[in-house]
Amino acid sequence: MSKLIKLNNIHKHYSMSNFIVRALDGVDLTIDEGEFTSIIGPSGSGKSTIMNIIGCLDIVSKGDYYLCGENVARLSDRRLADIRNKRLGFVFQNYNLLNNISALENVMLAGKYAKMKSKECKLLAKEALRKVGLEGRMFHKPSELSGGQQQRVAFARALFGNPLLLLADEPTGNLDSKTSKEILKMLVNLNKQGTTIILVTHDMDIANVATRKIEMLDGKVINDIRREKENEIN
Ligand SMILES: Nc1ncnc2c1ncn2[C@@H]1O[C@H](COP(=O)(O)OP(=O)(O)OP(=O)(O)O)[C@@H](O)[C@H]1O
Ligand SMILES: [Mg+2]
Repeated sequence: MSKLIKLNNIHKHYSMSNFIVRALDGVDLTIDEGEFTSIIGPSGSGKSTIMNIIGCLDIVSKGDYYLCGENVARLSDRRLADIRNKRLGFVFQNYNLLNNISALENVMLAGKYAKMKSKECKLLAKEALRKVGLEGRMFHKPSELSGGQQQRVAFARALFGNPLLLLADEPTGNLDSKTSKEILKMLVNLNKQGTTIILVTHDMDIANVATRKIEMLDGKVINDIRREKENEIN
């Protein structure tokens, strides 16, 4: 398997008035193509910070980040935006959908940012909605969908155009346990079809479904366990 991500001694510091917050304090990590990784750890341990850096939404204070062999740690905002649009898909806890347009139009936005033609964009958006099992709801607006369905739309938007990597920060945080399991099953299936996934969660049962579990504490990786097969979802 080839190395998709390589983080070398990553630091992220925030200078407050009289002290420094070490949100990431020397993280070394490599992630291969095809892996399904979960990141777990207490609140404030640096999970979102590392996701934002891997997702090119934020830049490091110190260290190097290689994405497909290219050092992206010191690229301009424009280049980072370009990488985000073409190679990465991000899902957050709060769906982040636009409320006044349909599921299909929400997913199509991903193509519009990448300046894609409308016809091609619609085709890919429909394909992404099919992947998450929502083809029957594509003309519904977010308010006409359940929480789990809204999150599926967010996943479809993230999957638009087959990104190299899908990043999800607490995607089931607002969902009940039954709906969380459905989303989780969907992630396992996406991974089996080849999507590389990094998932942040507070929930150990959810973390254990991934084939690799990374534990963070105080801005450091304190545990990194790989499994041959993912656990069953009950
Ligand atoms: N913009 C910022 N300015 C200052 N400190 C920040 C900033 N963003 C994050 N931090 C601090 O960095 C640390 C790591 O935050 P992060 O959001 O990565 O935690 P987390 O593990 O995602 O927590 P949670 O589980 O609550 O989402 C925290 O101590 C937080 O207060
Ligand atoms: Mg967080």
